[in-house]
Amino acid sequence: MISNKYTGRTIPRRTDKIPGGDDMKKEELVFEQLNPDACRTYFVGSPATKEAALVDPLLGATEQYLSYLDRGGWSLRYVIDTHTHADHLSGGRLLSQRTGAEYAMHRKAGAKHASLRLTDGSALTLGGTILEAVETPGHTRDSITLKLPGRLLTGDFLFIGGAGRTDLPGGDPGEHWESLNRVIPSIDEATLIYPGHDYQGKRESVLREEKRTNANLEPRKREEYVAWLSAMRRPTPEWMVETVRANNDGPTDPSLTFMPQDAVSACMCAPAPALGLPELSVEEVRRLVASGGESGRLLLDVRQPDEYLGELGHVPGAILIPLPELPARLPEIEHYRGKRVIAICRSGSRSAKATVLLKEAGFEDVWNMNGGTLAWREKGFPVER
Ligand SMILES: [Fe+2]
Repeated sequence: MISNKYTGRTIPRRTDKIPGGDDMKKEELVFEQLNPDACRTYFVGSPATKEAALVDPLLGATEQYLSYLDRGGWSLRYVIDTHTHADHLSGGRLLSQRTGAEYAMHRKAGAKHASLRLTDGSALTLGGTILEAVETPGHTRDSITLKLPGRLLTGDFLFIGGAGRTDLPGGDPGEHWESLNRVIPSIDEATLIYPGHDYQGKRESVLREEKRTNANLEPRKREEYVAWLSAMRRPTPEWMVETVRANNDGPTDPSLTFMPQDAVSACMCAPAPALGLPELSVEEVRRLVASGGESGRLLLDVRQPDEYLGELGHVPGAILIPLPELPARLPEIEHYRGKRVIAICRSGSRSAKATVLLKEAGFEDVWNMNGGTLAWREKGFPVER
């Protein structure tokens, strides 16, 4: 048993093998995402015992969760926060009070009312199924990912096409790199990914697809990863500091909120590729390239030099400024401020961030090339290396 100075019982690490992969279909779980918006709350239920767990519940939705449990005849055994949230108030304490469920968080969480403390390998039993906690610090020091049969509830450790910010209090990009490199290689690529947020209305992803397209999972050295994320640092808004403080105290008033209406991408690790981001398809960019007029527009590749010159190649005529260097190198492209700028990367994720960054810097006619160089190559369009 790991001792710590925090309140609550620590759930021991299991020493026997935790079922996963193919040994996991002992019981068909009921699994649902309950929130309509960017914050995700997951319901996991065992039909055999009617025991259930709620992961990352919102304080303001407490009554909806209670009536959902009631309608299904579920008994709430666990309420789990994957980390101390900075963007919304947790319903963990109130649900625990109202139902008698255990409130579980990582052993380092500051929550005063968590009754169970999780560490790496802690196992929570739900009917015939085990929910295993995996330590994945980086977004916060108390971040956990929950491993279920065939599914990972990643919290803000990994999003679909991104990851949680590492520049909020307790965040650490180097620690995030270590978590990614320790945990992801050990997970079956067919595992479904359920993040703590999604800002584009996506429900789930598959790890194999994330490995192909998620910029946070592109192979990088630790120092490169840290430099990449550090270039996207933003200040922590005061309302987030207030939210963390309130979550540690265990808020119980469902009408309480600190989040401003427009903070839709609060936990995203960079300016979010928000809905409405101006995008061009690879076919549209191809037509533009074929029509000439280089002086009137800029194709801006924001990958790393080895990618730009590597096997995948780059769109003909594209110049290279890696995303982490872009803020400091804006003067080099100053003369394109009134012209069309098309940001390009490998899959469209880093270039989306570049598009937002350029727009924020005052470039007006900026576009993201949707699908990136991968999509360009898939169409068989020519590249330079
Ligand atoms: Fe978060």
